[in-house]
Amino acid sequence: MIQVRSLQKSFGTREVLRGVSFEIRDGETVAIIGQSGCGKSVLLKHIIGLLKPDAGDVVVDGVSISKAPLPELERVRRNIGFLFQGSALFDSMTVAENITLGLREHGERDREKLTRITKEKLALVGLRGIEHAMPSELSGGMKKRVALARALATEPHYMFYDEPTTGLDPVTSDQIDALIQDLTGQLHVTSLIVTHDLFTVERIAERVIFIHEGRIYFDGIPSAFARSTDPIARQFLERYRTPVTQG
Ligand SMILES: Nc1ncnc2c1ncn2[C@@H]1O[C@H](COP(=O)(O)OP(=O)(O)O)[C@@H](O)[C@H]1O
Ligand SMILES: [Mg+2]
Repeated sequence: MIQVRSLQKSFGTREVLRGVSFEIRDGETVAIIGQSGCGKSVLLKHIIGLLKPDAGDVVVDGVSISKAPLPELERVRRNIGFLFQGSALFDSMTVAENITLGLREHGERDREKLTRITKEKLALVGLRGIEHAMPSELSGGMKKRVALARALATEPHYMFYDEPTTGLDPVTSDQIDALIQDLTGQLHVTSLIVTHDLFTVERIAERVIFIHEGRIYFDGIPSAFARSTDPIARQFLERYRTPVTQG
C-alpha cells in the first residue's frame, strides 16, 4: 500500500504540492492527471524517494520514504518499476544491457539468468530478438517497450508510468496503452499512471486523481470525472480530449 500524507513541496517561491493526501491499495490501477507543470512527476519522484518533501510524508508498505535509512529505501525501491517520462535508455548500452542494468546494480552476475530475464521481459512487451540492438536503431515505440521491459526486470509489485504515451503517434500510443493494460491484468501489479491522455485514463484506470493548483481536486472513477460539470474539471476535459473516436 502507498500512503501519501499531506505532502508539500515548493521550489523557491513556487508551491507545487500544497498538501496532497491519498492511499493506493494493492492491486489498484490509478491514473494521476492534471495540467502540464502541475506537479505529477514531482509527486511520483516523492513516492520513490528521489525528492524529499518540505512537509508530509510518503509511506510505502509501512516504510517512510523520507525517513527510512538508505538500505531500507533501496529495498522498497526494488519493488517499484518506473517508466520515466522519455524512455531514458542509455544510448551506449545494448538493449540487453539496458534491461538488466538494475539487476546488475543489485549484484546479479549469473549470465544465463540475465539472458533468460532479458528474453522473458522482451517477450512480455512484444519484442523478440533485439537483445543486441542499440537504442539508436529503435523507433520511439520500441524504445518505450524496452524501457518497460527494463522496469519489469526486477519483478516489481508496483509499476509507475510517467506519461507513457506522450510524444508517441496515436497508433503507437494505442499499442502502448493496450500493452500496459495487458501487463496490469497479467502481472497483478499495483499501477500508478501519470498522464494527460484521457483515452489512457478511460481505457486503463479504475480510479483517477486530478491534481489542480497543488491539491487533489477530484478522486474517483473515470466515468464520474468525465461526466463532471465542475468548471475546472470541464476545462481540463475539453482541453485534453483529443478529437479521435474511441474504438
Ligand atoms: N528539480 C526541480 N527544481 C525546480 N523546479 C522543479 C524541479 N522539478 C520540478 N520543478 C517544477 O515543479 C513544477 C511541477 O513539475 P512537474 O512535476 O515536472 O510537472 P508535471 O505535472 O508536468 O509532471 C514545474 O513548475 C517545474 O518547473
Ligand atoms: Mg511530468
